[in-house]
Amino acid sequence: MGPRGFGFLVALLVLGLCALAVSEKPSPCRCSRTSPEKRKNCGFPGITSNQCFDSGCCFNSSVRGVPWCFNPLPVQDAEQCVMEVEARKNCGYPGISPEECASRNCCFSDTIPQVPWCFFPLSVQDCHY
Ligand SMILES: *[C@@H]1O[C@H](CO)[C@@H](O)[C@H](O)[C@H]1NC(C)=O
Repeated sequence: MGPRGFGFLVALLVLGLCALAVSEKPSPCRCSRTSPEKRKNCGFPGITSNQCFDSGCCFNSSVRGVPWCFNPLPVQDAEQCVMEVEARKNCGYPGISPEECASRNCCFSDTIPQVPWCFFPLSVQDCHY
């Protein structure tokens, strides 16, 4: 392998390492469905939107007095199932199975106790950064 091939390998390695260090930008709904008063700070004063997104957080500077770089909502199986827990509209009953919930075309997530586990999906049209 000549020096060119070696340089190519080094470049690949560096790119790979960068990809590992940089988190993925959260999906639009994970950001825009977080109400401003519920935001949990994820950055430092003066962080840019790119730095914030690169660290896997959400950026929105349109509301004063709340964190601009904040934690995204948890990932769900589908983007239309991403929402604050308070926004869940019950689509099932206590103890419903994931299969029964899916047969109702609803979202299932049982990670939080005392809230609906089967809930109606929301349109993703209004999700944006
Ligand atoms: C920023 O957040 C506010 C309040 O949630 C929202 O109304 C606005 O559309 C958002 N702006 C962007 C660009 O996401």
